[in-house]
Amino acid sequence: MSEPLMALCTSSKMQPIRDLISKVASTNTTVLLRGESGTGKEVLARALHKASPRAGRQFLKVNCAALPGELLESELFGHEKGAFTGAYRQKPGKFEAAHQGTLMLDEIGEMPLRLQAKLLHVLQDGEFSRVGGEKIIDTDVRLIAATNRDLEASMRAHQFREDLYYRLNVIEIRIPPLRERREEVPGLVDFFLKKFNAQYGRAVDIPADTMRVFVDYHWPGNIRELENAVKRVVVLGTARPVHTEIIGNINRGPRVTMPGLPSVAAAVASPDAPISLKEIARQAAREAERVAIKEVLDRVHWNRAKAARLLQISYKALLYKIVQCGLVVQETEPEKQKEVIAS
Ligand SMILES: Nc1ncnc2c1ncn2[C@@H]1O[C@H](COP(=O)(O)OP(=O)(O)OP(=O)(O)O)[C@@H](O)[C@H]1O
Ligand SMILES: [Mg+2]
Repeated sequence: MSEPLMALCTSSKMQPIRDLISKVASTNTTVLLRGESGTGKEVLARALHKASPRAGRQFLKVNCAALPGELLESELFGHEKGAFTGAYRQKPGKFEAAHQGTLMLDEIGEMPLRLQAKLLHVLQDGEFSRVGGEKIIDTDVRLIAATNRDLEASMRAHQFREDLYYRLNVIEIRIPPLRERREEVPGLVDFFLKKFNAQYGRAVDIPADTMRVFVDYHWPGNIRELENAVKRVVVLGTARPVHTEIIGNINRGPRVTMPGLPSVAAAVASPDAPISLKEIARQAAREAERVAIKEVLDRVHWNRAKAARLLQISYKALLYKIVQCGLVVQETEPEKQKEVIAS
């Protein structure tokens, strides 16, 4: 694997994934990447592109959750002049720009049904037309789709097309959460330490006891959360505050499963510890937010764009809060390393 970041995916859990990537890189097959937020889906997609014969061409990414339907259609397929209000000139879409390269469709589970039908047509026939146009455009793009949604549940709820699901799911790669490959934590910490020390001109180290805490922690935000923790250590010049915060998270347990504000006992690490009213208020506020966000997300089947609208916060702010609150998509099936190679 040429990608330096992939060199860090060293655990036995990642070995089958590395093997699979090497095997499918040379082919044109569509790949579906699944995994919790922050597990490295984009890193893997880029590694796959770099290892493929398309490496010299474009790798482009479109986040299907970031744009409303009409804009997403134009982003993917382009538009002709006058196709809609504001379409002052013709604009090619990402399918054209990524010709002979790789296109990553991130958050594929958020794609509106109408566009799913258009995407299926492109995948089947290798051609499409721009919005407002009739000209048929041929396309040769390797597609990588990614999601942290339970696509099977979306299918049952008629929010995701079954035929598209099977068309995308030729090769499925499930990236395990960081808590299931803790042996990679020290290597990742060293990698991020080097990166941020170089970036900020520092020489900060992580003491052994903090490293043990890092290995023990369940990292609900996965590698992204670990990366941010190391960044904070380097910026602050000391590991202590981050160490204390993570111990607090560990004491609170991996994920409070259901509503109910934290008790005083949960807010402090030991019975003799001082009780900070401020801290209790902060935690209660955070927990109330967590419960509200989870309820809304469940209600809209984890359509985060919709949830952000209902909660009246930006999509980006919601993603941040999902990680901060340790909310992750619940898998319907037990975690399994499913690798399906179509015959
Ligand atoms: N193997 C790795 N080595 C080093 N850094 C990594 C690795 N995997 C992921 N990262 C870093 O972790 C962060 C999250 O990775 P990435 O964006 O690929 O995750 P994701 O699964 O696409 O997350 P999301 O579902 O939230 O989009 C990025 O900053 C990335 O650089
Ligand atoms: Mg991503």
